[in-house]
Amino acid sequence: MATTIDTLVIGAGAAGLFCAAEIGRHGKSVQIIDHAAKPAEKVRISGGGRCNFTNIHTAPANFLSENPHFAKSALARYTPLDFCDLLATHSITWHEKTLGQLFCDGRSSAIIEMLLDELSAAGGTLALGVEVTELRKEPSGFTINTSTGAFLANRVVIATGGLSIPKMGATGFAYDIARQFEHAVIPPRPALVPLTFSGRLKDIFASLSGVAANVVVRAGRAAFEEAMLFTHRGLSGPAVLQASSYWREGEEIGIDLRPNSRGTDAFVEAKITSPKRTLAATMADHLPRRLVEMLSVELNLPADTRLADLSDRKLEDIERALGDWRFTPTGTEGWRTAEVTAGGIDTAGLSSKTMESRNVPGLYFIGECVDVTGWLGGYNFQWAWASAMAAGRAIGLK
Ligand code: FDA
Repeated sequence: MATTIDTLVIGAGAAGLFCAAEIGRHGKSVQIIDHAAKPAEKVRISGGGRCNFTNIHTAPANFLSENPHFAKSALARYTPLDFCDLLATHSITWHEKTLGQLFCDGRSSAIIEMLLDELSAAGGTLALGVEVTELRKEPSGFTINTSTGAFLANRVVIATGGLSIPKMGATGFAYDIARQFEHAVIPPRPALVPLTFSGRLKDIFASLSGVAANVVVRAGRAAFEEAMLFTHRGLSGPAVLQASSYWREGEEIGIDLRPNSRGTDAFVEAKITSPKRTLAATMADHLPRRLVEMLSVELNLPADTRLADLSDRKLEDIERALGDWRFTPTGTEGWRTAEVTAGGIDTAGLSSKTMESRNVPGLYFIGECVDVTGWLGGYNFQWAWASAMAAGRAIGLK
């Protein structure tokens, strides 16, 4: 005997749990299923265990998508402050770390408990360890066959996320369903992911493993000023992760290592105030010494020469070279470590107000599986909450 419900939500991550609770609050019967043994595992590990659950500066410009306008409606109708209000009703306290990034004061498990409490208070149910074997459109509603039985549902919400971290149960399920119903899928690619190198650059970067510096990393038309970290495999740190979302295979990235990325006269000015200092010592004011040594070799800089002995033009040339150090990554660390998936279900096939499929009424896609990818810093969860709320409200009001 099939279980009959109003809405079946597939995927008990951030978006699925949030959406189901909203549907239930409107008095609709709602069930979530997930193939994993535990719900919302990515919430648990996020933000180093403290969940960077939103960003107070959230704006459409902080998201990548083939259609940069798509996210506007949902983001405007469910804001970071709305989520903070919800946290307050569950006595979850938080703090801003940096750049508008809001983290829990305690563990991220508090957010999972809140999502589960909201779900059960709204009358929704959750079943884990359930595999979907078939999703079929019927003249009215859907049949969903699973490893534990069949469901008949008026509506189905796909919230199974993207491909990042397969070890945690990520699958391409959402893309398969999208293709089944003739939705286009923008090729998914790992994003917010460390960049890797081969040959000489790999060895050079590996020798600096653990060294970090504040720089500007450019990829495509995007530029991010934050920390960059050298690792055994290549480059990481927030500035590189951010830029990775904009980087395409075969393209160069540019690193700006100048003391002041907005001006070009720092060394000429330093020559006036400290003419006896060497170039290397001056560079070491803002860059780690080991990095200065490497750059001196790589960029062929007169590291041991006193500033007084270098012409203004030479100093300007050096500053220019430091401002645009370019090279081509070999690739990324891939799905194993990518924090999110860029690309995904083409928004052209979805309503920006409700996340409902334009091809199949009653079918919804929310969260990371959609071609909307946030920057590092809480933006991806904000998209999960906002897209889930858009679908949840629309279904609840049907
Ligand atoms: P999510 O991936 O959370 O959930 C999908 C669910 O669907 C999972 O429970 C999965 O088991 C289930 N599922 C998958 N395939 C299925 C199938 N075939 N059948 C049934 N169920 C299936 N973002 C942010 O804003 N701040 C942060 O601090 C972090 N930190 C962070 C750290 C790390 C290590 C990672 C990997 C990611 C982050 N993120 C983040 C990104 C954030 O975790 C991500 O964008 C959201 O979890 C996406 O929410 P969704 O609900 O869309 O997918």
